[in-house]
Amino acid sequence: MSRRILISPSLLAAGHDTPEAVRAAVAVAERGGADLLHVDVMDGEFVPETTLWNDPGQVKRIKTVLPLDVHIMINNPDDRYMEFVRAGANMLAFHVEAAKDPEALLSRLQRHDVKVGISLNPETPLDKILPYLPLVDYVLIMSVRPGKAGQQFIPGVVEKIVFIKYHFPHVLVQVDGGMNPVTAAFVINAGADIIVAGAAVYGSRNPAKAIANLRRAADHDV
Ligand code: DX5
Ligand code: ZN
Repeated sequence: MSRRILISPSLLAAGHDTPEAVRAAVAVAERGGADLLHVDVMDGEFVPETTLWNDPGQVKRIKTVLPLDVHIMINNPDDRYMEFVRAGANMLAFHVEAAKDPEALLSRLQRHDVKVGISLNPETPLDKILPYLPLVDYVLIMSVRPGKAGQQFIPGVVEKIVFIKYHFPHVLVQVDGGMNPVTAAFVINAGADIIVAGAAVYGSRNPAKAIANLRRAADHDV
C-alpha cells in the first residue's frame, strides 16, 4: 500500500471530563505519531449524547500541534458551523442528515481555510451525498451509529468507500467507528485514506504501537 494512511485518534474514547484529561489525551496522540486529532461534537439532539466540545470555547482550548479534525454531530450545522471554524477546526465534517441545505453550507464553508467534509450515518444511503461529492475535500463515513466510542464496525459501509473512490478518486475517505487493525485493513483496501480510532488507541497499553499498527494494517494484505 503506497499511499499514506492518516490516523486520527478520537478524543472521545479518552478521559475528557477535565482539562487535564484532555491535555493528557492530546499528548498521547502527539507522542504516538498521530496525523490528526479527531474531536467529536455532540449536541444531545442529533445524537442523545453531549460532549463538552459542543461548547466551541472548549474546542478552542485544545492545544495541539496536530490538525484539528472536527466531526460535528449536531442539529442545524447550517447556523452553527462558524462556531467551529472560529474555534480552529482544520477539517470540519457535518452530517448530511442534519443539514437543512447541504449545498449552501458547503459553499459557505469553502470560503474558509478549512478542509470541508460531509458525513453520513451507516443506514444513510450514499445517494443522499452524491450531489455534494464534487464540493467536498473528504467524506466521513460512519461505520457505527454515532454517539459512542467502542462499538462494533458495520461491514456494509464498505461499498460506499469503493463507490466514492471509483467515481471521485481525489475525494478523501475517512472512516469512523470500530476501527482496529483488522477492520482498518478492510477499509484501507477498499480505498479509505483516514482512519479515526478511539478505543483502538486509547484502550491500548501502547498507543504509539496501536497507531503504527493501524497505519500499516493493510500492508500485509496486498
Ligand atoms: C462516534 C464517534 C467516533 C468514536 C470512535 O460517534 O464519531 O469518533 O469516538 O470510537 P471507536 O474508534 O472506539 O469506535
Ligand atoms: Zn467521530
